[in-house]
Amino acid sequence: MENILVTGGTGYIGSHTVLELLNGGYGVVVLDNLCNSSEESLERVKRLTGKDAKFYKGDIRNAADLDGIFKENKIDAVIHFAGLKAVGESVRLPLAYYDNNVTGTLVLLESMKRAGVHKIIFSSSATVYGVPERLPLTEDCALSAINPYGATKLVIEGILTDLQRAEPDWNVMLLRYFNPVGAHESGEIGEDPKGIPNNLMPFIAQVAAGRREKLLVYGNDYPTPDGTGVRDYIHVVDLAKGHVAALKGYKDPGVHICNLGTGKGYSVLEMVHAFERACGKKIPYEIVGRRAGDAAACYASAQKAFDDLGWKAELGIDEMCSSAWKWQKNNPDGYAKHN
Ligand code: NAD
Ligand code: UFG
Repeated sequence: MENILVTGGTGYIGSHTVLELLNGGYGVVVLDNLCNSSEESLERVKRLTGKDAKFYKGDIRNAADLDGIFKENKIDAVIHFAGLKAVGESVRLPLAYYDNNVTGTLVLLESMKRAGVHKIIFSSSATVYGVPERLPLTEDCALSAINPYGATKLVIEGILTDLQRAEPDWNVMLLRYFNPVGAHESGEIGEDPKGIPNNLMPFIAQVAAGRREKLLVYGNDYPTPDGTGVRDYIHVVDLAKGHVAALKGYKDPGVHICNLGTGKGYSVLEMVHAFERACGKKIPYEIVGRRAGDAAACYASAQKAFDDLGWKAELGIDEMCSSAWKWQKNNPDGYAKHN
């Protein structure tokens, strides 16, 4: 049995990936400092799979935490989700972002080296394409950073690429996620944003639940079919399965870069209407001005993922919305009551 260390494994994408790994027969060790998540997610994963991930509360910036884990467990590969991810916050708190994301990754890589573990999947993002050069985005499109969060992703991609060049036995997988949404079909695990959600889907879900009065739609004068922004929303369960596909498919050392998206874009209003179908209610919204830094449209070419890994997204917009609604309805306060 292969053992995978999942950093950030109690978080949104991490918990869904831990579930897929356990169901796929992997052993899983999770390291998380719980700064944006709850250990309750792993309890629920255990209920759903009948299998246990081993949990360590600790920080990727703490070498002793990491060395201890590598000493106590035989780890074959690391899936590295841990980090901070809010674009607006990264503009206000750049040092916290460089520290958590970049320093944290450096400390992790040094510890991996000491332990002789040279296989890593890194959670990158479509944000590394900056303002899209062309659509759909292929992995060879130009890269740029338009905020500190994006800069940390670009720097980390660069660090991992340089490391692999210097030490060719490393297997580095850079997975660039588009817009993960939705929840496990059980409604037991899902996205649990703290405070006012930054992202579209959790905001819509909270409007549907009556926690917020209306959605603010940021601009309807973009050069898109209905004027609102277009994104490549991907069901988090498909995304989680993409990680298992990468572990199986990218066997050889090298730097493997791969988009994880559906290849299809939906507008803000299309998402609103799909969510209305899923929850059977109207979602009140108001059109307001554009949000600074937003692109008109952003969607992936999903071709390389299919060619390299035989992976493609299976779940559509209706499953994304119905699962997000089930999670929201069954857990109006997320994991809060268990904290
Ligand atoms: P999340 O906040 O739910 O999960 C991140 C986890 O990392 C949390 O559980 C948090 O407690 C933990 N963490 C943060 N800093 C840590 C540290 N220093 N030490 C230990 N644990 C730490 O976010 P998510 O949506 O699951 O995102 C996972 C990864 O995917 C992140 O790296 C994020 O940048 C990337 N990503 C997310 C999206 C998205 O829209 N959700 C898109 C592209 C890429
Ligand atoms: N939007 C609204 N109202 C809201 C929230 C969002 O109209 O309250 C619109 C945005 O303007 C955009 C679309 O909904 O057109 C999607 O916005 P999100 O914030 O959900 O997602 P983004 O594509 O802007 O950003 C996400 C992640 C970033 C990541 C980026 C690229 O949040 O971390 O994808 O991967 F960098």
